[in-house]
Amino acid sequence: MSADDFKRQAAAKALEFVEPGMKLGLGTGSTAKHFVDLLGARVKAGLKVLCVPTSEATRRQAAALAIPLTTLDEVLQLDLTIDGADEFDGDLRLIKGGGGALLREKIVAAASERMIVIADASKRVRMLGAFPLPVEVVRFGAKATRVMIEELAADAGCAGDISLRLKTDGQPFVTDGGNYIYDCAFGSIEEPELLDEALKVVPGVVEHGLFLGLADLAIIGSPAGVEMIEAGFGVDDAV
Ligand code: A5P
Repeated sequence: MSADDFKRQAAAKALEFVEPGMKLGLGTGSTAKHFVDLLGARVKAGLKVLCVPTSEATRRQAAALAIPLTTLDEVLQLDLTIDGADEFDGDLRLIKGGGGALLREKIVAAASERMIVIADASKRVRMLGAFPLPVEVVRFGAKATRVMIEELAADAGCAGDISLRLKTDGQPFVTDGGNYIYDCAFGSIEEPELLDEALKVVPGVVEHGLFLGLADLAIIGSPAGVEMIEAGFGVDDAV
């Protein structure tokens, strides 16, 4: 089985947590895309749910599958968000934003009673940081903001290359919110909570990809089967 098969396996398991009438947050990325596909099939078969997408890409995919959509202006609280991650550790701290949707993903996760992370086993790490941390910044003063990120991250024990995310044509990547992303290759983030606090102090930073205390459950597709890790409890089971 390929990594993509494991992602789909995790997405299929997550579908078991969806109940009729739920208000759902729909994640972004290749793993979440599987979930939205599978949810679309269930909706077609009659399941009633109402969903908030975390990106324009997911909104387009869900709309094409006729999944009923709403916004966080219409519905203020969601029951459950299902999303992927670029990395997660044993405490279910995440790095997200590899697909550039971290701001809406964090807003939607924070508005949800529960967040389930779906991933293949390659996303599981002992310590966060091998995946460069995405930091979303406003375009105004972006270079000055970069310097402040560097200085404050250093105070939090993190150093490494900080690069503006570019598209394949060499132009800066612009998020759904109209902002830039700096990818911060810190190598290892020993104290994510400290870095979270440090980055919040930078005025030009809109949000960063550390998701701390948001995920309740990780569903991991792996050669051993589907594993689940509940926040605060470690490995749950393999099915
Ligand atoms: C999108 O901005 C990200 O947070 C994704 O959820 C994350 O990059 C995981 O993506 P994959 O499922 O494609 O690995």
